[in-house]
Amino acid sequence: MSSIRRYAVCGLSARGLASFVLPILGLTDRTADGGFGYGSDEDDLSGYAEVVAIVDTDADRVAEFNQALQRLGRSPIPFFPPTQYDEMLATVVPDAVIVTSPDHTHEEYIIGALRHDVDVVTEKPMVSTAAAARAVLAAERSSNGTVQITHNFRYPAAHRKVKQLILAGTIGRITRVVMDYHVDLRHGASYFLRWNRRRSLSGGLQVHKSSHHFDLLNWWIGSAPDEIFGYGALNYYGPASPHRPGGELSVGELRAKDPYFLAQQESGVFPTDDDSARAGLFGLHYPGQYPGSRPLYLYDAEIDIEDTYSAVARYPSGASLTYSIDFSSTWEGFRVSIAGTHGSISLLHGRTVDGTALPASDHITVSELFGPTRVIEVHPEAGGHGGADPLMRRDLFTGPSPESVELGLMATSTEAAYAVAMGDALTQSIATRRPINLAALLDLS
Ligand SMILES: NC(=O)c1ccc[n+]([C@@H]2O[C@H](COP(=O)([O-])OP(=O)(O)OC[C@H]3O[C@@H](n4cnc5c(N)ncnc54)[C@H](O)[C@@H]3O)[C@@H](O)[C@H]2O)c1
Repeated sequence: MSSIRRYAVCGLSARGLASFVLPILGLTDRTADGGFGYGSDEDDLSGYAEVVAIVDTDADRVAEFNQALQRLGRSPIPFFPPTQYDEMLATVVPDAVIVTSPDHTHEEYIIGALRHDVDVVTEKPMVSTAAAARAVLAAERSSNGTVQITHNFRYPAAHRKVKQLILAGTIGRITRVVMDYHVDLRHGASYFLRWNRRRSLSGGLQVHKSSHHFDLLNWWIGSAPDEIFGYGALNYYGPASPHRPGGELSVGELRAKDPYFLAQQESGVFPTDDDSARAGLFGLHYPGQYPGSRPLYLYDAEIDIEDTYSAVARYPSGASLTYSIDFSSTWEGFRVSIAGTHGSISLLHGRTVDGTALPASDHITVSELFGPTRVIEVHPEAGGHGGADPLMRRDLFTGPSPESVELGLMATSTEAAYAVAMGDALTQSIATRRPINLAALLDLS
């Protein structure tokens, strides 16, 4: 029997292509692979996996990709619209599905696969609401299939080092954690030019983006919180933005006067092809998702999510978390400080918008309460997301490494459900001004 696992990919997204489809096809050299390569030779997963189907709403986008494969002498990958998902599972019989579609669609693909006892690898956030997370946990309990979640933010070298220090007991029992997160104006604006800007599609940035951070924090702390409370607002984008040029302007006219565009027009974040479907990573178009007839812009009325929020959470151990983020900062990264009964750990990871590392970025400071303070410099590794993606892919496709097992690097579905529930509960708390119980939201109390 072949040891190559057969995967169906749901959502031919930028992430799906870069992180899964191209490495599985062994297309790792962008120059040699007609612009479609991603990664390096070490990313070649063709000896372990095969893509046997693509499920997407956009037949034209998949056709464009298949044409590119044929130009490279490769076979096209069979395409199925979402209406034929069940049929695909029954006839193609993949060993597993990889879910890389917009967040609100994950629930349907995960639960559909579990009904066929098929394993799932899904992008974060596992799903876009706490109710959907509850449904996935229930479906997994009654299936022979399993769900693995790609919480790659656990994998950067500095994050693994912090986990090692905590597990070694360096700072004792954790008492409080503070994370101050910044998404720079280039990256931040990008969320408001894509599907992510609608809560019904992404769960808001509290789920879409902060699930990364909540999962990392919970993993470091070693448990999930029981309650969360917060405040938030839309301060930078949307119709009431202080940066929106006045008057009734077309997108083209807005751009000409818009400070975000003028500051970042070379960055590639701002789509300029208004008359044709938007092109994304690898030049592949999105005629379904972003047709030329409907250019999205930063100040559109349909933006219904917050771009700034702060939260406080309480853990069963008595530890507390303070977390704050905005999506229009002058730098990208975070400061985190973890205090324990016997000392503290702090870490800064940050770059200015032009990519310059902040002074003391990627240095971990470890202070023992009655002992010395030492600084550990950590070097980001090669590969996507500071070396996180290649390591995570190895765990997913070739089996967990000894370090992964020791640190518990691979997120479980319950851990991923909590990361989603924290984001959803934070949104609820912002709306109701009340603290929200998380176990109750997930039906785990
Ligand atoms: N772990 C990470 O670091 C990371 C980074 C980026 C994105 N992501 C996640 O990856 C996923 C994809 O995000 P992206 O920004 O790359 O997406 P994208 O916008 O590039 O692509 C979305 C794709 O899904 C297709 N699609 C839309 N509705 C669909 C449906 N109902 N069924 C199937 N396909 C559908 C679109 O046609 C398009 O091909 C999201 O869940 C996102 O949160 C994770």
